[in-house]
Amino acid sequence: MADITFENAHSMHTATDGSLRKDNIGETVTLTGWAWHTRDHGGLIFIDLRDRTGYVQVVVDPDCVSAEDFERAEHLGREYVLKVEGTVRARAAEAVNPNMATGEVEVLASSLSVLNTSVTPPFSIEDGIETDETTRMKWRYLDLRRPEMYENLRLRHVVAQALRRSLNERGFIEVETPILANSTPEGARDYIVPSRTNPGCFFALPQSPQQFKQMLMAGGIERYYQIARCFRDEDLRADRQPEFTQVDIEMSFVQDDDVMNMMEGVMAEVLAEAGVTDVSFPLPRMSYAESMERFGNDRPDVRFAMELKDITDIVKDSGFKVFSSVASAGGVVKAINAKGAGDWSRGDVEKLADIAAENGAKGMAWIAFTTDGAEKSPIIKFFSEEEFAALKQAMDVEPGDLLLFAADAPEVANAVLSALRLHMAEALDVPREGHSLLWIVDFPMFRYDEDTKKYAAEHHPFTHVREEDLEDLEADPLAAGSYSYDLVMDGYEVGGGTIRIHNAEEQKRILRICGLSDEEIEEKFGHLIHALELGTPPHGGIALGLDRLIMLLAGRDSIRDVIAFPKTSSASDPMTGAPSAVAPRQLKEVNLRTL
Ligand code: AMO
Ligand code: AMP
Repeated sequence: MADITFENAHSMHTATDGSLRKDNIGETVTLTGWAWHTRDHGGLIFIDLRDRTGYVQVVVDPDCVSAEDFERAEHLGREYVLKVEGTVRARAAEAVNPNMATGEVEVLASSLSVLNTSVTPPFSIEDGIETDETTRMKWRYLDLRRPEMYENLRLRHVVAQALRRSLNERGFIEVETPILANSTPEGARDYIVPSRTNPGCFFALPQSPQQFKQMLMAGGIERYYQIARCFRDEDLRADRQPEFTQVDIEMSFVQDDDVMNMMEGVMAEVLAEAGVTDVSFPLPRMSYAESMERFGNDRPDVRFAMELKDITDIVKDSGFKVFSSVASAGGVVKAINAKGAGDWSRGDVEKLADIAAENGAKGMAWIAFTTDGAEKSPIIKFFSEEEFAALKQAMDVEPGDLLLFAADAPEVANAVLSALRLHMAEALDVPREGHSLLWIVDFPMFRYDEDTKKYAAEHHPFTHVREEDLEDLEADPLAAGSYSYDLVMDGYEVGGGTIRIHNAEEQKRILRICGLSDEEIEEKFGHLIHALELGTPPHGGIALGLDRLIMLLAGRDSIRDVIAFPKTSSASDPMTGAPSAVAPRQLKEVNLRTL
C-alpha cells in the first residue's frame, strides 16, 4: 500500500519526522512534532520527535544550541509540541537502530522552540496500550496520536478511495440521500428526530438508504453508489455501532449474477490496493442451507474445518434417551470434533456447557479421546458397539479429539455448535491466517418471528421472491426462496444485497405476508408502490459494511478501532458527552416533554 505523502514546503516545517533517511544526511531541516520520549544522557538530551509519518531521534547538544534552548530541552514534558531546526547526520555504527525507519540517522538540533505545552496525558501514547476503552474514547485525540490508530484511519482512506475509483470506472455515480428521512425496515430500532415545523411528527434517521436508492433507480440513475452513514438503535457488539458506514450500491437492468460479478471486480481491485494478495477470484458461492448445515450460521469462517456433522441417523435408536427422543420429535443431533482438546480436564470441558446454554442448549454431551488412548464421557455407555464405531467413523476420530454434541431443533443445534466451533478455534489457537471471502446465496425469503408471531423478511421486504416460488407464496411463505447474496469475509458478514421487487403487486403481497394491512402499506410504503406502478426498472444492489471490511483488513477485532470517533457499548460518546439533556425551551419548540 503506497504511503500518503505531502508537500514538505510548509511554513512551519521543511521535512516530516518519519521521512528522514540516509539520503538526507547533511541537509538542514526544520521539523515539528510531539516530544514522545525524552532521555537525558548526562549532558546530551535525546528526543524522539513524532508526527503522523513516524519519528526521528533529535540530539540536543549544549555546544550546538543556545543556553535558553538547552534549558527548554531539559524541561520538556510528554507530548509538548516542538519545532526543531537542525542538521541530519548519520548515527554512529553502534547506535543504528534497524527496527526504526529513521534508525540510520538523527537530527542534531541547532534550535528548539516549544509551540505548545501539554499537561501530563491520562495515558501513554504507545501502540498496544492496555488502557480501558472508555478512557481512550474520552481523550480520543490522544488515542489517535498513536501510530497504529493513524494507520487504521489511513487504511480506511485508501480503501474508500479505491472503492470510489473502482465504482467510478464502472459508470456508477455518487449521489447523496437524506439523513432526515422516514422509517425503513432493516430490522433495528430507529433513531428519531422531532420536527419543529410539523408538531408531533418525527423523522427517522436512515437504517440504510435502501428506499432512496430504489427511488434513484425509478429515477433512471441506473448506477448509483454512496459512502453512506446508517443509523441503527440496536444492541451493540464489537462489530456493531449505532452509526456506521455502508458502501451502498444499486444497479438497474441486472440479475443477481451481475451484481455479484461487479462486486467481485471491485473487491479484487480494492484488496490489491490494500495489499491483500491471497484472495483469488471468482469467489466461491455456498447456499444458505449448506452454510447452516456445515457451519451452523450464515457467515462461516471457512479458514478452518471443525465442521458440524449431522449424526441423527447413527444415534436415533440409541439407548441415550436425550438423543433418541430429540430425533423422534423431529430434531437433529449434531456434533463437532475439536481436535487437540481430548486431554482437557473434565472441569474445563464441562465449562463449555455455559457457552452452549447461552445459545439455547438444554445440555452439552461430550466424548473425549485422550492422547494415550482412553475414552472418557458420561454417555458412551448408552451406545452399542456398532453405534459407537459408526459415530467415531463419521466424526473422523483420532486420539486427542473431543466431540461436543447438541441435540435440539435444527436452529438451536446450529446456533450452539456454531458458537462452540468458534470458541474452540480460539481456545485451541487453530490457525486462521489470511483472508477468505465467499458468497452465501439463496436465502429464504422469510423467517418466522416468535416474538411478534409474524413472518419477517430474512433480508428486507423489498427482496424479489424466486420466480418459481411466487405462485404459491401465501400457502407456505417459509418455503419461498429469494434472490439474495451476502458477502462473507473471515467469519463476518461484510456485505449483503438482493434483487428487488419491481412489480407493485408482488411488493404488496410481501408486505401483507409481513402482517401489514393495505392501509398501512399505503401509509408507509405508498411512495414505493407508486414508483413501482410508474415504470421502475428491474434493479438490485448491495451494501458493504465499510467499518467491518477495514477492521478485518487492519487485523483488529473491534470496528471501534477503525472509526475516528466511535461510541461506547451504551451508545454514548465520552469525549463530547453525547447524548445529553437539552434545555426545556428546546423541548418546547419541538412539542416534547420528558417523563
Ligand atoms: P444490511 O442490513 O445487511 O443490508 O447491511 C449491510 C452491511 O452493513 C454492515 N452493518 C453494520 N456494520 C456496523 N454496525 C452495524 N450496526 C451494522 N449493521 C449492518 C454489515 C452488513 O453486511 N439496505 C441493505 C443492503 C441492500 O440490500 O442493498 C442493508 O442495509 O456489514
Ligand atoms: P442427562 O442424562 O440429562 O444428565 O444428560 C447427560 C449428558 O447429556 C450431559 O452431559 C448433558 O449435558 C447432555 N445433554 C442433555 N441434553 C442435551 C442436548 N439437548 N443436547 C446435547 N447434550 C445434551
